[in-house]
Amino acid sequence: MIRQSEIRKVMIIGASSGIGRELARRFADEGCLVAVCGRRIMLLEELKRGNPDRYIIRGLDIQDTASLPGILEALKSELGGLDLVIISAGTGEINQSLNFDTEADCIKTNVTGFCCAATWAFKVFEGQGHGHLVGISSIGGLRGSAEAPAYNASKAFQINYLEGLRQKARKIRSKIYVTDIRPGLVDTAMAKGDGLFWVMPLEKTVNQIYKAIRKKKRIAHVSKRWAILALLIRLLPAGLYEKL
Ligand SMILES: NC(=O)c1ccc[n+]([C@@H]2O[C@H](COP(=O)([O-])OP(=O)(O)OC[C@H]3O[C@@H](n4cnc5c(N)ncnc54)[C@H](OP(=O)(O)O)[C@@H]3O)[C@@H](O)[C@H]2O)c1
Repeated sequence: MIRQSEIRKVMIIGASSGIGRELARRFADEGCLVAVCGRRIMLLEELKRGNPDRYIIRGLDIQDTASLPGILEALKSELGGLDLVIISAGTGEINQSLNFDTEADCIKTNVTGFCCAATWAFKVFEGQGHGHLVGISSIGGLRGSAEAPAYNASKAFQINYLEGLRQKARKIRSKIYVTDIRPGLVDTAMAKGDGLFWVMPLEKTVNQIYKAIRKKKRIAHVSKRWAILALLIRLLPAGLYEKL
């Protein structure tokens, strides 16, 4: 049974827009205290105006891994505890010309920044003996991409990193839960490129993500239709996949 009172102190990294922002609204509306982070502070301020008592806002750049743990630690103190950390911060560009700066920017956010935030959260949860870490990876992480090689590879890193942390939580017999949310295409600024299909409305997607988090699922492919596609993508032989 899902207890609505279970989660009280929530931190969402990458909450200024898209999935992170909608999740923040959900948790705030149900009475949680939510720390919301991102670089675009004006968007965070706008979010806070909708429910001022429920949000703490903090500007941060997840790529700045020298400052990140200190900022998150201070934010945790301001929250007065920490039950749930959601890492939704992410970037990805179509990069057919293989511009290295574009690839490096993606890696700094989705790999190095993600790893810094995830390790910080895991150690906090390990210290206090409980907690729930959620990463928003992607179905894209299941195979490579000719259009956005770094993006898909970075999401593969997140998928494997979260699995490693889940295994670690089990080995140390802790009450730490690790959830890997793998969306298909969602109608946010992130969905880029020509010929996009099955783009899911943001609200519907966040409903499903929210339920998966509440149920403390290990992995959730969102939506069901994308879950079937994810299975087919994984099974497709390399020779056939390359022709797509
Ligand atoms: N939309 C899709 O089709 C889709 C599909 C699968 C997975 N996802 C994943 O879902 C997650 C959320 O994306 P979205 O679709 O909600 O797109 P979005 O609206 O562009 O949201 C991205 C969020 O990440 C934050 N962010 C980006 N770079 C950051 C940085 N350096 N430091 C701190 N925060 C940073 C942004 O905040 P600031 O710009 O204010 O810093 C923003 O809040 C991403 O990890 C994405 O890869 C999206």
